[in-house]
Amino acid sequence: MTEGGVSQPLVSGKALVKRFGDFEAVRGIDIEVNQGEAFGFLGPNGAGKSSTMRMIACVSPRSDGDLRVLGMDPDIDGPRIRARIGVCPQQDNLDTELTVRENLQVYGRFFGLSRAQVREKAVELMEFAQLSDRANAEVESLSGGMKRRLTIARSLVNDPELLLLDEPTTGLDPQARHLLWDRLFRLKQRGVTLIITTHYMDEAEQLCDRLVVMDGGRIVAEGSPSALISRYSSREVLELRFAPGEQAGHEAKVEGLAERVEVLPDRLLLYTANGEAALEQVTARGVRPVSSLVRRSTLEDVFLRLTGRTLVD
Ligand SMILES: Nc1ncnc2c1ncn2[C@@H]1O[C@H](COP(=O)(O)OP(=O)(O)OP(=O)(O)O)[C@@H](O)[C@H]1O
Ligand SMILES: [Mg+2]
Repeated sequence: MTEGGVSQPLVSGKALVKRFGDFEAVRGIDIEVNQGEAFGFLGPNGAGKSSTMRMIACVSPRSDGDLRVLGMDPDIDGPRIRARIGVCPQQDNLDTELTVRENLQVYGRFFGLSRAQVREKAVELMEFAQLSDRANAEVESLSGGMKRRLTIARSLVNDPELLLLDEPTTGLDPQARHLLWDRLFRLKQRGVTLIITTHYMDEAEQLCDRLVVMDGGRIVAEGSPSALISRYSSREVLELRFAPGEQAGHEAKVEGLAERVEVLPDRLLLYTANGEAALEQVTARGVRPVSSLVRRSTLEDVFLRLTGRTLVD
């Protein structure tokens, strides 16, 4: 969107708050999502991701702060915004008594498409979701992953400019996840702006140009996945696994061998530029882990560094 030649963000939130009674689920966050980017909210359970998404989707009014979606205020222009966005909620809300095809067609009619248009659209979207062979099956009879794929397909029925996906791949098997990542990538190439929540760090790294890390209703970091990793973590991580309960005793012995050491219930994580070199020194000090692994830093390490907790517990 341009105004006076200057590109406007597609979504802009300032000091955005969501309260449920006395409880603040979203505690004054600032966000900007630009045309054509894939933007992510990464955070653990209860971080406030869905609450934020629901405000952007115009299904839950903000409690405070400012919000603009496609340049409009959801409080005033909810219906006009909803006509141009696609929403895949965290919980599937399909009509389980209708068939796969009927779900898509009914939803399309809701957006004002003609009968002929919805018929054509349903065929295209069933193809997209790899559900063509289940076209006439009642949704009730589908597996969890199939339902998820149908919900995602349904969110595309109105050819949205902006697509909101709340944990799109939860419940999908690895093959379906990768297929969906590919499809989302293609949508992005066609100019669709994506907003995705996830607590899968690999998904965030794969899909998002830029993301915010949320925790306890606040944004604790923001940037591209690679910028976040290089800012908050080392290049490599040496993971040392010990028998349950024994890792803490080894913490003192590895002191000074890494920039930072994290103690997890079953592992020590040594943050260092050179994991192999650190492993040699660990061995030289007589520390004998049950197993060891050198890997690249990920967004999981960023999260651990920022919050002291793991993303998926
Ligand atoms: N309708 C509601 N009424 C009361 N509290 C709510 C409501 N919806 C969410 N909350 C609370 O707000 C907080 C944030 O919830 P939210 O669903 O936004 O988190 P999330 O980041 O999406 O978590 P998850 O990864 O589990 O989906 C939680 O503590 C939750 O219990
Ligand atoms: Mg959620």
